[in-house]
Order: sequence, then C-alpha cells, then structure tokens
Amino acid sequence: MDKKELNQTNPFLPEPGRIVRLYPLTDDVRFFQVRIADMDKALSFRYRAGQFAMVSILGAGEAPFSISSTPSRPGLLEFCIRHVGTVTNALFRLKENDLVGLRGPYGNGFPVEKMKGKDILIVMGGLGAAPLRSVLLYCLDNRDQFGRVILLHGAKRPAEMIFREEFFDLKKRDDLECYLAVDEDDTGKWNDNVGVVTTLFPMIKGIDPKNTYSMVCGPPIMYKFVLKELVKLDIPKDQILMTLERRMKCGVGKCGHCAIDYIYTCLDGPVFTYWDVIHMRELI
Ligand SMILES: Cc1cc2nc3c(=O)[nH]c(=O)nc-3n(C[C@H](O)[C@H](O)[C@H](O)COP(=O)(O)OP(=O)(O)OC[C@H]3O[C@@H](n4cnc5c(N)ncnc54)[C@H](O)[C@@H]3O)c2cc1C
Ligand code: FES
Repeated sequence: MDKKELNQTNPFLPEPGRIVRLYPLTDDVRFFQVRIADMDKALSFRYRAGQFAMVSILGAGEAPFSISSTPSRPGLLEFCIRHVGTVTNALFRLKENDLVGLRGPYGNGFPVEKMKGKDILIVMGGLGAAPLRSVLLYCLDNRDQFGRVILLHGAKRPAEMIFREEFFDLKKRDDLECYLAVDEDDTGKWNDNVGVVTTLFPMIKGIDPKNTYSMVCGPPIMYKFVLKELVKLDIPKDQILMTLERRMKCGVGKCGHCAIDYIYTCLDGPVFTYWDVIHMRELI
C-alpha cells in the first residue's frame, strides 16, 4: 500500500492544515477543504478511499473524520463534519484560513485494487456520503478501470441531502447510473424519487452479482434493510463492504477504545465485509 503517515516518528503529533474552503452542506453538516500547510507533505500525502484522519483543534481535542476527497486528486483533503459535541462545536467556530491539526491517514480503506474490472454499486444514506464520495469520485476519475458504476443515495429530506448539487450534476453523466431519493419531500420541488433508499433497488436492472462489489454507509437502521436487498441480488458477502463507526481515541491501535474482541476497528476497519459483520454482530 502506498500509505505514508504524516509524522512517522511520532504518530500522535498533528500536522498543521489550513482550511481553504468552508461552507454548509446542510443545517448541521459543513464541508471543510484543508491543505496541509507544509507544501511538500501536502503533495506527498497519500491515502486510500475509505480511510480517515484525526482532526484536532487546540484546546478542544481531536476526533476521527472520513476523508471525503478522492486520492486521485492529491493536495487537498475534504471532510463533511456534523455538529454533535465538543470537538465539532469548536470546528464549527472556525473560518476559512484558520488552522486545524491533522494525523493520518488511518484505517484500511476500500480494496480498490481488487475492485478493478468489477461493477460497483454504492449505497449511501445521510452522512454515509462522507466516506463513499471518496470512492465514488475515485471510480469516476479512473472510469476505464471499472465496469458499471451505480449509485443509490437517500436522505430524509431534500435539504438534508449532502452534496445535493454535486449529485444532481453527476446524474447527467452517462457513465454513472445515479438514483436519488428522499424519505419525504417537504418542498414540493423535489423532482426525483420519494421513499427510503431501498425503494431505489428495483430501478437497477441486470446486476451481475459475482462481478459486483457493493459499498454501503449510512445510519445504523439502514444497514439491516440495504444488506437484505444486496443479499437478494446475490452479491457475495465478501463483496459487500461497509464502513462502520466506533468510538475512537488514538486511531493507531494503542488505546483499545475501538476494540471488539481481537479486532481494533481503527486498524482492521473502518471498512468491513458483510462476512466479517455476520461473524461479529457487535460491529454494527
Ligand atoms: C472512522 C470514523 C469516521 C468518521 N467520519 C465522520 C465524518 O466523516 N463526519 C462526521 O461528522 N463524523 C464522523 N465520525 C464521527 C465523529 O468522529 C464524531 O461525531 C466526533 O468524534 C464527535 O466529536 P465531538 O467531540 O464533537 O462529540 P462528543 O462531545 O464526543 O459527543 C457528542 C455526542 O455524539 C456521540 N458520539 C460521538 N462520537 C460518536 C461516534 N463515533 N459514534 C456514535 N456517537 C458518537 C456522543 O456519544 C455524544 O452523544 C467518524 C467516526 C469514525 C470512528
Ligand atoms: S482508537 Fe485506539 S486502539 Fe483503536
């Protein structure tokens, strides 16, 4: 793997990163585009879709966030961050040009090498768009290396659909099958599907299950129903990948906060196969 951590001598030392773009994606989610301040490190920073970074802010602490940008466009790191508590509260007080600390990249990420030549089915709900946008953009930037690319994206309401405008644009591509849905249209202006994300499955035709890798991320309730649909499609369980969140502290397999039995989710995850999850139900 071409992974290179920012500070290889001391993995806990954050590297300063400057916020170059910052804007709201929904009422409680913001988009942060960050450039590692040291230009050499910014350009040599390599990660894989599905990995995460620890983002810190002096005096407030640090927290793990999925890298939402694609490794195929190096130099800038993007995050979608939901405002929930102490660290995210401090991050939401920042403005463009302010500094954050960065450690990483951490976790296993998606096995994109194995996925080459295969069809790709991405199913995202709510903030699940954060890690899956990275792999989606990676597949689109390397379009000739994959078969069909299919995206199902669900949100509660139109205003809560993260990267709404970006996905409307992607819908115009003829090399991506993109289906969007909201549970409820409270605007009267939504011209797409209304219903939970699983109502989009009947729109996908002619899946070749053995040749398909599926990736899923969303709220915990979504997994149960989406996994049922994927199994119905006959996609092998080791080709169904999901990215899961656990409480994490160090991100590097030292503190034990993320451990379930012998698995450290910061090292062995956050990407797991359905096969892994069946054997370790506590993962979800
Ligand atoms: C690998 C990984 C990737 C992640 N990617 C993203 C991302 O792309 N965008 C994003 O917004 N968030 C992401 N998260 C979650 C994010 O790390 C937490 O929201 C963050 O740690 C909250 O920090 P805080 O100090 O603001 O909240 P706290 O003050 O620590 O907590 C506020 C509330 O949120 C709950 N909470 C905090 N962390 C978690 C968690 N991990 N799981 C469930 N409940 C939690 C607490 O129990 C509490 O109720 C990710 C987590 C992991 C492990
Ligand atoms: S977060 Fe510390 S061991 Fe995984």
